Amino acid sequence: MERYLPIRKVYAREVLDSRGNPTVEVEVTVGEGVVGRDGYTGRAIVPSGASTGKFEALELRDREKRYQGLGVQKAVGNVNVKLAEAVLGENALDQSQIDQLILEADGTENKEHLGANATLGVSLAVADAAAKALRLPLYQYLGGCITDRMPVPMMNILNGGKHADNTVDFQEFMIMPVGACCFKEGLRMCGETYQKLKEILKNRNLSTGVGDEGGFAPDVKDAREIFELMSLAVREAGYEPGKEISFAMDAAASELYLEKENAYYFPGESSMKGEKVIRTAEEMVEYYEKLAGEYPLISIEDGLWEDDWSGWRLMTEKLGGRVQLVGDDLFVTNVKRIRRGICEKAGNAVLIKVNQIGTLTEAIAAVRMTQKSGWNAVISHRSGESEDTFIADLAVAMGAGQIKTGAPCRGERTAKYNRLLAIEDRLGSHALYLVNRLENNYTK
Ligand code: PGA
Ligand code: ZN
Repeated sequence: MERYLPIRKVYAREVLDSRGNPTVEVEVTVGEGVVGRDGYTGRAIVPSGASTGKFEALELRDREKRYQGLGVQKAVGNVNVKLAEAVLGENALDQSQIDQLILEADGTENKEHLGANATLGVSLAVADAAAKALRLPLYQYLGGCITDRMPVPMMNILNGGKHADNTVDFQEFMIMPVGACCFKEGLRMCGETYQKLKEILKNRNLSTGVGDEGGFAPDVKDAREIFELMSLAVREAGYEPGKEISFAMDAAASELYLEKENAYYFPGESSMKGEKVIRTAEEMVEYYEKLAGEYPLISIEDGLWEDDWSGWRLMTEKLGGRVQLVGDDLFVTNVKRIRRGICEKAGNAVLIKVNQIGTLTEAIAAVRMTQKSGWNAVISHRSGESEDTFIADLAVAMGAGQIKTGAPCRGERTAKYNRLLAIEDRLGSHALYLVNRLENNYTK
């Protein structure tokens, strides 16, 4: 590394996320230390999940009276003392070395000593500060000079599961503007569909209140009813389902899985239908096959629970040729688990959440492993988010081709979409908006 950009200051504070729960914000100041110069300050606010995978890196919470135990003063303290000590004076331009020092300071496999919310905050803020010091937009600092690929949004317009208090058991129903010519037009198509869906729900006296990720959260019967509503909204917005806008879902099946029954329980569907609805892994796969046959459903995330490797192999065998099967809780942005998935043909795409693993270098390694194996990487937010837009730049930098960052509603979600609009503007005629290999196969 030719240039040396020392880290001068590391400072964390407790702030609020989009659910009103505490989270960690980190500021990192870098500079050459010339008298009279202030240097450059990068910042990052760490996101937080609700349907967290059990193999994720540890999110450190205070477990004290304040904030119902959810305070992050310990993680903040770990940044201000131990992590500051580890990286002060080090070269902010050498991200992998910084992350190595962070890993050593923590010294555990899953960041349980300092907390992944502490380590990630420092890791991301260092990258942001370095980009600012070099006067480069973050996506270009991370991705290099030929960074040009805009992601297709996976826009969550209907929320259920742990993200809403309705009868929808699957967590997320999304639309993907696969027929758009560019990100900006794709965003418009989704925005229009979202507003149509609102009208349709209102006309049927269904709730138009929104869930954690900004999608509507009505009490409806089952996935079929939702896909019918979505198809109608797409058509009424003037688009053709499957041609211009396709569907995706996150089953978040780990949340439905009952270990003692070795099956998936659907409480909402059960209450709406007045009978107990429970499905085995095989029945889940058959259910998805039917849904993908009836609707333009091109991507299913966490279709089965997080440690059911044989179930995932079966699902991939049956569906992997025509549907993108994304592992979120299954892979937890962890190269060891991703490698296993690739070897065992369990899934064919990986959801990337930076706080599942706890440093930028490790998250990028997960993307690289995924892409080099011919799989798709989807850069993702968490259900607990903030105004931080790091993942928008990361999606472009990695050429991921897909981003999952909620509805076109709620500031913490639109912050990412608005940042992507600015990036696409800046790229101008160089911007590429391509649907991924898998989507290409399944848009027909
Ligand atoms: P989470 O949800 O952030 O609550 O884990 C997002 C997802 O499951 O993809
Ligand atoms: Zn998920």
